[in-house]
Amino acid sequence: MKNITVIGVGKLGLCFALTLEKQGYNVMGVDVIEEYIKKINNKTLSSPEPQVQKHLINSKNFVATTEIETGLEHSDILFLFVATPSLDNGRYDHSQIDKVVNQLTNYNSNKKEKHLIIGCTTMPGYCEGIQNILQPYRFSVSYNPEFIAQGSIMSDLESPDILLIGEGSVSAGDAIVEVYSSIIENKPTIHRMSTKEAEITKIALNCFLTTKIAYANMVGDIAKSAGCNPEIILNAVGSDSRVGNKNLKYGYGFGGPCFPRDNRAFDLFSNDVGIDAVISKASDNANKLHLDFQVNELKKKYKKTEQIVFSDVAYKLGTNIIEESQKLALAVELAELGYQIVIKDTEEIISQIEDLYGNKFNYQKKYLDDKTVRRRH
Ligand SMILES: NC(=O)c1ccc[n+]([C@@H]2O[C@H](COP(=O)([O-])OP(=O)(O)OC[C@H]3O[C@@H](n4cnc5c(N)ncnc54)[C@H](O)[C@@H]3O)[C@@H](O)[C@H]2O)c1
Repeated sequence: MKNITVIGVGKLGLCFALTLEKQGYNVMGVDVIEEYIKKINNKTLSSPEPQVQKHLINSKNFVATTEIETGLEHSDILFLFVATPSLDNGRYDHSQIDKVVNQLTNYNSNKKEKHLIIGCTTMPGYCEGIQNILQPYRFSVSYNPEFIAQGSIMSDLESPDILLIGEGSVSAGDAIVEVYSSIIENKPTIHRMSTKEAEITKIALNCFLTTKIAYANMVGDIAKSAGCNPEIILNAVGSDSRVGNKNLKYGYGFGGPCFPRDNRAFDLFSNDVGIDAVISKASDNANKLHLDFQVNELKKKYKKTEQIVFSDVAYKLGTNIIEESQKLALAVELAELGYQIVIKDTEEIISQIEDLYGNKFNYQKKYLDDKTVRRRH
């Protein structure tokens, strides 16, 4: 049985660790939150992510620790999934990775080369810098982002469309391919390249998807304004194989913890190399214009004295994440215009919204088996 260490077992890292364990690896998770580690080790951790609880309870070869040295002793292959939140300027904050890297430089290994594989979202060029820092300590540094969606992380990990590998060395690239060959159930195309090329690919791909979603909503707004059905038009456009129907639906703008920030980071990186990423800016702008369009549609439909119920306001159904939820943004805009907005959602989501917006809304708790209110806007 092969050993693997996963540093940072949060939303993504935990799913990755459990996927590896499920496929026969002996996995050591490393994290900094003691209480959280305890819950992993006594298998009481609950997660909104499908399959996590079940696989955690069934796991036999997954333990977690707060000691990074223990993780380093455990394996020569280290996957890293600490958080890289966006700074106010739109760039990624790499400080959690820097901290781990600093710890790795204290670990004086004269043994075999170790492979550090960064799965966090990073600004292009960042991993090259880390490779320079860690080379004297016999670490190769690779970049291997995941294209997964919240709410289906474990199944997405097992059937990715592409495998993107920014390899720090050929042996690191080979090691990554070997790991995935035992966890994936489909046959994705494999793309091996430099770390910087992979970092650009990750955010360029998400920039394309934001553009596609923004385009679909723009066409939909035009269709509606002309008295036509957006779906009929988009379905026909997407049926051309050069376009494709995925992400070409009329609905809310793009949101969540990945698309908007990756699109902005792509724009910022392009400035660094002297290019104006006008398409990134246009998608961001189109997303805002679409929100304005939706606000106007509801203003025409409702009087200020009427209640408007917004049900399920997470950025994606089945998750507890409200970050950049465009449905919630719509509710906020209308509340600020004086409309009576009721947010109907789970306790977990309501508590997040109450923290941010207080009594801007009325709230109604929704229970998991409650199928009564599904008035979607
Ligand atoms: N969650 C996703 O769907 C998703 C999708 C694509 C990319 N990503 C990227 O993956 C990375 C991780 O995202 P996430 O959503 O899992 O974040 P998260 O905040 O849920 O998890 C990060 C974990 O790292 C731990 N951590 C922080 N400092 C540490 C340290 N020094 N040593 C060990 N552990 C440490 C935290 O305690 C936390 O449990 C980010 O860069 C994110 O952009 C996430």
